[in-house]
Amino acid sequence: MDGMFDQRRYLIPFRSSLLPQIFTDTLVIGAGVAGLRAAIAAAAHGECIVLSKGDLKTTNTSWAQGGVAAVTDPADTTESHIKDTIVAGAGLCDAPAVRTVVEQGPARVREIIEWGMRPDRDPAGKIALGREGGHNAHRIIHANGDATGAELQRCLVEKVRGIPAVRIFEKCFALDLITPSEEPGAPVMGAITHHPKYGLQMIWAKATILASGGAGVLYRETTNPPIATADGLAMAYRAGATLADMAFVQFHPTTLYLAGASRSLITEAIRGAGAHLLDNSGHRFMVDVHPLAELAPRDIVSHAIVRQIAKQGGAHVWLDCRHIASFGTRFPGIAALLKRFDLDPALDLIPVHPAAHYMVGGVRTDASTRSDVPGLYVVGEAAATGLHGANRLASNSLLEGLVFGEIAGRVCAEMKQPAGGTNGGKPAGWGGAGRAAPVPVVSDIRPSDRGELDLNDVRSSLRSSMWRNVGMERTGAKLEGVIDMIDFWARYTLDKIFDDPNGWETQNMLLCGAIIAKSALWRTESRGCHFRTDFPEPREDFRVHDLWRRGRVAPLSAPTE
Ligand code: FAD
Ligand code: SIN
Repeated sequence: MDGMFDQRRYLIPFRSSLLPQIFTDTLVIGAGVAGLRAAIAAAAHGECIVLSKGDLKTTNTSWAQGGVAAVTDPADTTESHIKDTIVAGAGLCDAPAVRTVVEQGPARVREIIEWGMRPDRDPAGKIALGREGGHNAHRIIHANGDATGAELQRCLVEKVRGIPAVRIFEKCFALDLITPSEEPGAPVMGAITHHPKYGLQMIWAKATILASGGAGVLYRETTNPPIATADGLAMAYRAGATLADMAFVQFHPTTLYLAGASRSLITEAIRGAGAHLLDNSGHRFMVDVHPLAELAPRDIVSHAIVRQIAKQGGAHVWLDCRHIASFGTRFPGIAALLKRFDLDPALDLIPVHPAAHYMVGGVRTDASTRSDVPGLYVVGEAAATGLHGANRLASNSLLEGLVFGEIAGRVCAEMKQPAGGTNGGKPAGWGGAGRAAPVPVVSDIRPSDRGELDLNDVRSSLRSSMWRNVGMERTGAKLEGVIDMIDFWARYTLDKIFDDPNGWETQNMLLCGAIIAKSALWRTESRGCHFRTDFPEPREDFRVHDLWRRGRVAPLSAPTE
């Protein structure tokens, strides 16, 4: 990257010594499945602070519908789940990450059920297992029909609230990760945060776990809640961490497409229960596209829908659920949503359209969740662990959050144990044991004098442009155009100093939008959920992770494992 994006180390000017100081052992940025699971493990050996920029219900986790994929049925096998994950990942999965998640997943699922999560069960009391696109077995655990995420979030929040060593700071926005200098390899030592009541604060931590979720809000059409503005990816990049595979943004095939309705997800589990996709003439077009028809991997379904929409002159397609028995009890959340728009799934077809859903790329980590910046661990949707490769298998991300969340928390907790070596394995630069003052950090940036800016206009222009040009079908020419445009907007948006989350989020969105577009331009092939109409096939020389680091003009690349 170059230009404006790499100039700013911090979003705001500050002097750490003049701000309130808070000290903890582990700082977890994010209170979704990954952050909460990490906090539970980290708290085994020390104090932990968890940040949530909104309330605890506004997370991608809470909005998850379909479920958690895990091998719990004796008829299913670990090898089958591994194979399905690797097939979906289109040549870019890192095999050790896949094996870790699939093998450790069932234990993590048993554990949350012991902690009080209530999965749906069949009349005999056995856990009911659903099936979703790309899975060759029934292995999706769900709760309250289509409200799995809300139940998982409830359970984890209750568990965390019962641990005295964990403090949750709600509505507390992390602006930037703190490093003692801008030298390469300078360790992360916590974060600078903003709370509407307490203002700016320095939270110093011996280990920082980034669990800040995804980036769906970068796109005009998205299934994601408003918190998904890529803050964690942007702050990690500014702190010197490497981002990987940013071109890979997964689009979900079916969101409700009605004027005036939010783009609510219509879960894939409904297709797992037998729903059909119909074109305008009532033809079930997926049967012509893939042997698994509506249950083909989700990029195949999304692209087939986009092509169908183009054939129909822009009109959406339909989801036919009329033959699904007990829709209202199996999918109560969606039934209630449809009712608000006078739609009855037993009688009416549901208008659907794809939308941006999941950020496959993220901060590159190793199998212990370590980024390449000392002291910074990354989990959940913010991480690129190599599990998903070039495309994510449905319902693998809640599982990933549970597994890698536990690993990150455990690694941080173990690091805090007295170790034989110097500094107990803490990042170099930490001021010492206990609560000694760390090195002072100063950010000296000055505001530009260009005057006011219509920030909401920048944000909505970016979102529209990402949808049109960096969406499901990309070309080199469109990507070059959008990169120039974002660079231009960045010149007069990134030089400003804002004092509230709307401004900071927009700056983060511009940075990550530019990296996604640059990664998509660099990847002159189609693979997984990245599709270039000018390069429609995968290329063997691109079967590598592309890596983006502050201060480097071109990406590095690393082979898959
Ligand atoms: P999140 O759950 O998104 O949590 C992010 C946290 O970070 C939030 O607490 C947020 O406040 C905090 N945060 C962000 N930025 C900042 C900041 N600057 N400062 C402080 N805090 C910050 N996956 C599945 O496996 N199965 C499903 O059925 C499924 N269904 C889905 C349905 C929908 C509608 C959506 C949107 C996603 C779905 N997914 C599903 C994907 C899955 O929900 C997410 O990938 C996963 O929940 C991400 O968890 P996370 O812990 O990484 O992040
Ligand atoms: C869905 O319920 O369709 C979403 C599942 C997922 O994104 O994993």
